Amino acid sequence: MPNHPDSLWTKVDKYFGDLLVTTDEALDAAVAANHAAKLPAIDITPLQGSFLELLVRMSGARRILEIGTLGGYSTIWLARALPKDGRVTTLELEPHHAAVARANFQHADVHKKIDILLGPAADTLRSLIKKKSAPFDLIFIDADKSGYPEYLTLSLKLSRPGTVIVADNVVRDGKVINSRSKDQSIQGVRRFIELVAAEPRLRATVLQTVCGKGYDGFFIGVVVE
Ligand code: SAH
Ligand code: DHB
Ligand code: MG
Repeated sequence: MPNHPDSLWTKVDKYFGDLLVTTDEALDAAVAANHAAKLPAIDITPLQGSFLELLVRMSGARRILEIGTLGGYSTIWLARALPKDGRVTTLELEPHHAAVARANFQHADVHKKIDILLGPAADTLRSLIKKKSAPFDLIFIDADKSGYPEYLTLSLKLSRPGTVIVADNVVRDGKVINSRSKDQSIQGVRRFIELVAAEPRLRATVLQTVCGKGYDGFFIGVVVE
């Protein structure tokens, strides 16, 4: 996704971020550690992190599922928003990403609230379903976009009425409207939205976002039955 360092929306993002998101040593250190470990700089932004924090607090979530950990920047936001007895289960394919995340969680002192489950997320989700895992209160989908349709279907099996489902990167510079896109990420997001549209158990919307990382959007849904 192109970066827009000089754009007005980057300046506006910085204006609100500087005022509303207090500078934070552990989050800054996580970003630096990710960079040093050569992880892609595709974590959510500080204002997006505070948006997830609000969703956790507004929904009163205690059990969170995250699909796609990377260096755990978003996970730290989710974990910190939880009450003392809350937990985040975060799924990651790449052992290297998980190792960087684990160190970031220790540094941020949230490691006791987080379980990292390694492996392809769809397999991990199926094993959670098989083990009759208790339903999650909030699910954040942010792994490979081609997997989104399957992650939605499996997430619904780990949900209850009231579960909040959020998915990152559903706009992708507007490319989502190109039905003929050859990009599997775009086709994955489109199929995901079509599944949502056909799913009576979900009420949902999309919030388009512009920020220092470009033009994108969050899907937000709630399970109603
Ligand atoms: N949520 C993170 C960013 C996640 S980036 C944040 O905002 O800080 C997407 C992550 O999904 C990457 O670490 C990538 O390795 C992981 N991923 C990709 N395919 C996956 C799969 N099949 N199963 C689990 N994780 C996967
Ligand atoms: C990509 C993935 C993300 O989760 C993101 O926020 C931005 C980009 C990507 O795979 O390109
Ligand atoms: Mg993302």
